[in-house]
Amino acid sequence: MIATKIKVIDLKDLPKLIGKEVEINGVSIALFHLSNGDVRAIGSRCPHTNGPLAEGIVSGEYVYCPLKDWRVSLITGEVQPPDEGKVEVYETEVINGEVYITF
Ligand code: FES
Repeated sequence: MIATKIKVIDLKDLPKLIGKEVEINGVSIALFHLSNGDVRAIGSRCPHTNGPLAEGIVSGEYVYCPLKDWRVSLITGEVQPPDEGKVEVYETEVINGEVYITF
């Protein structure tokens, strides 16, 4: 499959540290604007019991699932020990104030 770059949101509509869930081609993705200015995109459902990661608390490069606090890396998608699992990670790019995901 050829990767496509899709515009998902204007950066101004993605406040820092407040996740946002978007759907692209039927796939639910959680977007995050980190305090260092980076934008990250991961699968929106926690591997534990499908908690909504976009509603989690962001700290540095991690998000804490709102259900049982599993900690998920926004860089690798890996759940941090002692818990286990992984979510998809999507490449993001900000161009002229618009956020794109390579999908
Ligand atoms: S669903 Fe995320 S910790 Fe349980």
